[in-house]
Amino acid sequence: MGKLGAILMILSLIIATSSVHAKSQMSKQEKAWFRNLCRGKKKVAKLHFYLQDELSGPNRTVYEVSRSNITSISPTSFGQVRVLDNLMTAGPGRNSTELGRAQGLITFADLKESALAMNINFVFTSGKYNGSTLCILGRNPILGRDRELPIVGGSGVFRMAQGYSISNTYSYDPVADYGILEYTIYVTYVKESDDGVH
Ligand SMILES: *[C@@H]1O[C@H](CO)[C@@H](O)[C@H](O)[C@H]1NC(C)=O
Ligand SMILES: *[C@@H]1O[C@H](CO)[C@@H](O)[C@H](O)[C@H]1NC(C)=O
Ligand SMILES: *[C@@H]1O[C@H](CO)[C@@H](O)[C@H](O)[C@H]1NC(C)=O
Ligand SMILES: *[C@@H]1O[C@H](CO)[C@@H](O)[C@H](O)[C@H]1NC(C)=O
Repeated sequence: MGKLGAILMILSLIIATSSVHAKSQMSKQEKAWFRNLCRGKKKVAKLHFYLQDELSGPNRTVYEVSRSNITSISPTSFGQVRVLDNLMTAGPGRNSTELGRAQGLITFADLKESALAMNINFVFTSGKYNGSTLCILGRNPILGRDRELPIVGGSGVFRMAQGYSISNTYSYDPVADYGILEYTIYVTYVKESDDGVH
């Protein structure tokens, strides 16, 4: 039995327990959701997209929130916190099909290396994942190649998601202060059973 099997078993136990002790605390909808989840199938998806990292200009999508008193003299900008709401596109071009937004916080959190502690939510606004989100949380050594970050969860289609992402800097234009980041995500999630039994 895999990890997911174990999670599902625990969920079954929760349902069994809650039906004994907290029958009235669970709505019909919730009960149906749990039941469908237990009968659900584990799915694997690979996603590939780009982020438009617009660091300056009138349409910028990244802003500084705060900094420590050593940020300006730190070779790694240690202590700087930024918030971003970057456009997610299917291809690398700015005008490529819009898939959604990447929203969250990045903190320069390494005294010696350029590395971020980051928490980004990928918010899908088109295609089959429209309305769903995936959440990244981890360390990002921004100068390296094939930077791996954990996918720690999701919502909508991606409920119970787990996985990892690989990112690379596709390009950076220092004059426009404009970066394009490439992301490949491998994610497992549970597709709820939709056999209509409620
Ligand atoms: C900013 O966005 C507006 C509206 O989309 C666009 O007309 C303008 O050209 C953009 N400016 C730059 C510098 O990208
Ligand atoms: C930053 O603040 C700390 C604590 O207030 C202080 O000890 C330190 O000297 C400051 N460093 C700089 C570079 O200003
Ligand atoms: C995007 O499209 C607009 C008009 O639709 C055009 O002016 C602009 O040059 C295009 N930008 C890129 C990077 O292709
Ligand atoms: C995404 O879903 C929203 C809300 O259901 C809907 O309004 C919008 O038209 C959808 N967008 C696309 C591109 O399908």
